[in-house]
Formats: sequence, structure tokens, C-alpha cells
Amino acid sequence: MENQTDIKKASEFLRRGELVAFPTETVYGLGGDATSDMAVAKIFEAKGRPRFNPLIVHVRSLDEAMQYGQFNATAKKLATLYWPGPLTLVVQRTENCPLSLLVSAGGDTVALRMPAHPLARALLEEAELPLAAPSANRSGRISPTEAAHVREELEGRVAMILDGGSCEVGIESTVIDVTGDIPTILRPGSILPEGVRSAAPGGAIISPGMLESHYAPDHRLRLNARDVSADEVLLAFGAPLMGAKWVEQLSASGNLNEAAANLFRMLRLLDKRESGGIAVMPVPETGLGMAINDRLKRAAAPKA
Ligand code: TXA
Ligand code: MG
Repeated sequence: MENQTDIKKASEFLRRGELVAFPTETVYGLGGDATSDMAVAKIFEAKGRPRFNPLIVHVRSLDEAMQYGQFNATAKKLATLYWPGPLTLVVQRTENCPLSLLVSAGGDTVALRMPAHPLARALLEEAELPLAAPSANRSGRISPTEAAHVREELEGRVAMILDGGSCEVGIESTVIDVTGDIPTILRPGSILPEGVRSAAPGGAIISPGMLESHYAPDHRLRLNARDVSADEVLLAFGAPLMGAKWVEQLSASGNLNEAAANLFRMLRLLDKRESGGIAVMPVPETGLGMAINDRLKRAAAPKA
């Protein structure tokens, strides 16, 4: 855990419009002042990201969030239930929203999230700024769950990297569009559909697949493998298939939380090995397994 001096230094960089990578409970974020067009543009540049892709803005509190976005009853209920935590709410921008239009990719909605990680919260408090922060990877690459991953991706493109160790959740936040009457889950995460429905009397619909299609390792990913060839490396879940040249184990006991926390780190490790491809054992489509399978499907899809 970094000390107060580092947080002060990081805040100064942010106030000067520089970028700082910081840990959240989900993955590391690449943060910049969300009220500054220049700082937000720098984020796109550093990631090499296609411009018209909106960013999540991280805030200190629901009160702050309500200055930027219009919260209907369901949005308020969800925020009260799950903030701080791995939940992002897409809402209409307020009339005098001070956030850069670039975080909305020019649109009239904004994605807001109050993170739970103590270092992220300390940084938001010290900087006294809303922070636009996509995952701290180059565009099209796997989200970083350790400071070393961020260094690999963004060294030299970011003023500072705050090291908070490994991210506890390991998968990006659940993204829910609450602009309409019925909440729509745009990206599955560790806040599960059951949890969303409990706050939404009219129910909630799941509509993933609209978001980025490019969590891509360099090697080919083969999903739901029931066997493995000698030139393949294996991402195992439960008792590993025999015969792979290298194995990473998501969870020997079949624990989905453990698997989510390990997923991106292990994909990185496997991708670094020389191999004829990465075979992935089936992961059950229940609870967090839905979020894990969503990321795996994206990683296996042909690159955009
Ligand atoms: O866990 C997370 O959410 C991490 C940490 C750093 O907070 N952040 C993250 O950001 O994953 P990013 O930019 O990699 O993913 C944000 C997702 C994108 O798929 C984007 O399309 C969607 O949220 N998004 C952002 N603003 C949106 C908006 N106004 N409407 C619809 N989708 C939006
Ligand atoms: Mg991302």
C-alpha cells in the first residue's frame, strides 16, 4: 500500500492534467481529470483507443455523482445498495454537467462509479476531482490486475503508477444502463442480475455484447476444451485435463470468485508462453461464471 506522500504526488499530477494509474477493487484504472478535455484526450492517446468509446467517471460519493448525472429511483437504489463497489451506472448527464463531453463520447449519458478500494478512494479525496478511468491497458489488451501489468502496458505513457497489489475482484465492474424504465445490464460483473432485479421492481434485462469486442491475447483461445493437445497451454477450472505443455489453474476447487480474481493474470501468463494456443476448460454459466465467460468469449473472438 502506498503512503500519503505518493497519494499527494499523484493528486498533483492529476490536477496538472497528467495521467495516474491506480488500483480499484476490480482492475487497475488509467485516471485523468474528468473535467478536462485535454486530460481525457490524453487517456485515449495513452491507450491507443478508438476515440468514440465512452469512459467511466469515478466519484467520491452519490452526492457528487448526482451533480453529474440524473438519478431516477432505481439508480439511487442501486447506488445505495452497491456503492462503494464494482457497479457502474449509466445515467443522463445533468444540464450543467461539468464533465468533459469526451467521457460521454459526445453523447448525453455518462457512466459513473464509486470505487471501494481504499487507495482509489484516498486518491479521489486528495485530488478533489472526478477521475475518468478506463482499465489501464492498451486498447484491445487484457485488463491489468497488478501494478506490474500496468507497467508492461503503459510505462512511459503515464506520470505515475500507484501500486495497491492484486485486485480483489479481478473482473471489471458490472455496467448497468439506468436511463430508461427497465435497467439494462450492458456488461456482466460481480454484481449479479439477481442483485440488480431486487432493486428494480420492473425487472432488469441483460444485453451484453454491445461493448468492446476486443479483450485479446496474442494466442488463439479455444473455449470449452474437453481435451488438450501437446502444443497447447491450458487454463484449467477444477481437475485439469492431462497432456498440456503448461497449466494455469483458475480454481482447483471450482470457486468462481477465486477464478475471477485469477482470470486476467493467468491469461497474461499463458499468453507469454510459446504455444500452439490456449485451451480453456468449461466454466459454469452461473453467478460470476457469466462474467468470466463473457470475458473469455471476447478474448476468443477474432480481433476487430
Ligand atoms: O471495473 C471497471 O469498470 C474498470 C475500473 C478501472 O473502474 N474500468 C473499466 O473501464 O473497465 P473501461 O473504459 O475499460 O470500460 C468501460 C465500459 C466500456 O465498455 C464502455 O463502453 C462502457 O463502460 N461505457 C462507458 N460509458 C458509457 C456510456 N455513457 N454508455 C454506455 N456504456 C458506457
Ligand atoms: Mg477495458
